[in-house]
Amino acid sequence: MKRYFQMKRIKIIGTGSYVPEKVLTNFDIEKMVDTSDEWIRTRTGMRERRIASEKEKTSDLAVKAAKNAIEDSGIKPETIDLILVATATPDMFFPSTACFVQSAIGAKRSAAFDISAACAGYIYALSVAEQFIRSGKYETVLLIASEIFSRYIDWTDRSTCVLFGDGAAATVLKGIDGKKKDGIISTLIYSDGRYAEFLYLRGGGSSCPLTHESIDNKLHLLKMKGNSTFKIAVKNMTEAARESLTSNGYKVSDIDLLIPHQANKRIIDAVAENLDIPQEKIFINIEKYGNTSAASIPLALDEALREGRIKEGDLILMVAFGGGLTWGSALIRW
Ligand code: UT7
Repeated sequence: MKRYFQMKRIKIIGTGSYVPEKVLTNFDIEKMVDTSDEWIRTRTGMRERRIASEKEKTSDLAVKAAKNAIEDSGIKPETIDLILVATATPDMFFPSTACFVQSAIGAKRSAAFDISAACAGYIYALSVAEQFIRSGKYETVLLIASEIFSRYIDWTDRSTCVLFGDGAAATVLKGIDGKKKDGIISTLIYSDGRYAEFLYLRGGGSSCPLTHESIDNKLHLLKMKGNSTFKIAVKNMTEAARESLTSNGYKVSDIDLLIPHQANKRIIDAVAENLDIPQEKIFINIEKYGNTSAASIPLALDEALREGRIKEGDLILMVAFGGGLTWGSALIRW
């Protein structure tokens, strides 16, 4: 007798987020470097961002976001099979930040590891979670994106220091049997390492151990070719969004909410123009948090849900772009 393998549906059953208390406004940055609130607002769409306190680690933000998502989902931490932490700013090289989270939330039986794909980290982690659940290997996955980029910013470089903020957000994913058509429809992930030097942080890695000299040369801080990154971001985010739709038989007009990575409002506007999607169908919170790297999409998702911007049956498209270069998209029926 022929056996048919029924693939699981993958539902986001809970979301949560956490941002540090300290707010750094454009006016605060005006006092630090030669810039202006007007330049930052018009060139990026940002007004303020959050900055972690000296005592806060990436795992501390992650744990707070995770606890909120776990509470929202109603699951018990002991039932989590896998914890993924998307981060480019981990607590340390190893153990993974995910292991610290596992211990703090008491997810006794889960495997735990980090995913490094910079600002596209959440979509990458979502794709990894999707494979584990679809294959039937795991049922419940906790996915957290957490970043403290403020520790790796050159606060004298006006071209980068205005852009980034700290924050974390989490989602609980569950494999569900049955014939309903909701949940993750597909994820796409891509990378192009030829452009690694567009956005990177060398210092401390094996190619550049930390020395007094490397620190004097600020190699322990983020470097970005902003303008070149901007252009590729627009092109690749547009393509990834289109591919998500066409490969699943949808049109742009089918989308109820687009949740893009929040790196620059002008990038979002350009992608929206390319796709011909109206502003009211795009969720944007960049003015409050700046670019929180991997955390930006799940932070926006959590906020969109709390604001009632997503209802059952909605078609949600997420699209991300980051250092690597990495990019990707996720299409979800809510
Ligand atoms: O999340 C991962 C991916 N990240 C991104 O996708 C970020 C992509 N890049 C960007 O968002 C933009 O390129 C930036 C916001 C970083 C820069 O905006 P831009 O329109 O590309 O500006 P630019 O780098 O071409 O610089 C234009 C001018 C320059 O002055 P000159 O040479 O024309 O005199 C800069 O020195 O703007 C100047 N500038 C600033 N002026 C005031 C750069 N940063 C600032 C600043 N305040 N903070």
